[in-house]
Amino acid sequence: MSKPTLEMINSRPDDATLLADEAKYCSFGDTVHYVEPPKIFDGCEGSYMYDKEGKAFLDLQMWYSACNFGYANERLNNVLKKQIDTLPQCASQYLHPTKIELAKTIAQGMEQRFGYQGRVHFNVGGSQCIEDSLKVVRNATGGKSLMFAFQGGYHGRTLGASSITSSYRYRRRYGHFGDRAMFVPFPYPFRRPKGMTAEEYGEHLVAEFARLFETEYHGVWDPKVGQAEYAAFYAEPLQATGGYIVPPRNYFKGLKKVLDQYGILLVVDEIQMGFYRTGKLWSIEHFDVKPDVVVFAKALTNGLNPLGGLWAREELINPEVFPVGSTHSTFASNPLGTAVGLEVLKMTSETDYEKMVMDSGAYFLEGLKTLEKKHKEIGEVDGLGLALRAEICTEDGFTANKALVDKMVDIGMSGDLDWKGNKMGLVLDIGGYYKNVITFAPSLHITRQEIDQGIELLDQLITRAKKEL
Ligand SMILES: Cc1ncc(COP(=O)(O)O)c(C=O)c1O
Repeated sequence: MSKPTLEMINSRPDDATLLADEAKYCSFGDTVHYVEPPKIFDGCEGSYMYDKEGKAFLDLQMWYSACNFGYANERLNNVLKKQIDTLPQCASQYLHPTKIELAKTIAQGMEQRFGYQGRVHFNVGGSQCIEDSLKVVRNATGGKSLMFAFQGGYHGRTLGASSITSSYRYRRRYGHFGDRAMFVPFPYPFRRPKGMTAEEYGEHLVAEFARLFETEYHGVWDPKVGQAEYAAFYAEPLQATGGYIVPPRNYFKGLKKVLDQYGILLVVDEIQMGFYRTGKLWSIEHFDVKPDVVVFAKALTNGLNPLGGLWAREELINPEVFPVGSTHSTFASNPLGTAVGLEVLKMTSETDYEKMVMDSGAYFLEGLKTLEKKHKEIGEVDGLGLALRAEICTEDGFTANKALVDKMVDIGMSGDLDWKGNKMGLVLDIGGYYKNVITFAPSLHITRQEIDQGIELLDQLITRAKKEL
């Protein structure tokens, strides 16, 4: 039980004192303040966050999809507690059992799914693992430092990761520390050109990408030696921060064909969409392609001790080509993280998460479709598994309406929505190119009653936001 107790409530400073201290002592550079004042939470359990008064906030974003298996998941928390009592600390140069077992479980799973042998490499969080993957692909391609990535893609905010993340605002103040990726369009079905199906749009974008290699004058390929200037293509199979965009099913197959033809590696970023968010362990499994490198983090430990990693095909990462010391962090394969990660994979192998997530996702999407019919301002709802989106627009159902979605977030966080006579709140995350998309990442264990509650609260939220704007 992780709801705040009376003892907790009485023993901490009040919100006003904490907020004044935050304003004075905390760097704002490591956070984002979406609502003013920022909300302070004291507890969490299942699909809910709780504030100081014990008021419940239904959470439909689960720490940006880091807590796929519910807040304070008892089974995972117990593994962490047990590890604290056995081997909580161990320097990276020594081995401990769960590091090896976790690497083996992931690598064997990759071999079953994609048919390649490979190895697993750990680090502390998503961005750090992206950094390490950049070293792997640069090293494996003779030091090539140029990457392709998607417009609207997000791979983190460390220096290397922000050079392959499309938004200039993450680089603007700091100059360039590495080569900026070449950003190509991601197939965004809702905003595709008129007169094309989503699949035709996918094919069109693949053809446009392939055209880059037609002549040396497009600047990516030397036909005389048969070499691309680019090492790898970094891809989120569904764009996460970009707005939970589900690409047409044919797109990645077409793209991979071009990459294979010109010897460019495919690095798949599963940091937000991995661990059954979309109904598969890895979201790329929906698209029938075999990646060369897979990067993961977040839900590997259900948001407990930070741990991430990458898997790469054997020829890219075996110790002959990527030797000891190629990367290192004191906390890289920390035993608290690897113990929980191993339990996450055990847990997901014992239950049919694929069916559970696809069924709950279909039910949630049905609910969103009823709202779409009722409110002209919902331009599109879509999703894969429990990665769902609602695009909030003006009354024309297409023009992005950031003001309306911001109002919805504010009302949700104010905690005065009505649920059967009680007050409660709703936690939403916003993404998308125009910052107008509600990106839903609920707990994968969300119940039908909680989904019904979420749809009812969203209905109240949009109805009120329209009136108050
Ligand atoms: C797709 C993707 N890649 C990379 C990252 C960066 O991970 P972290 O925030 O753990 O550094 C994120 C974080 O949101 C992400 O969603």
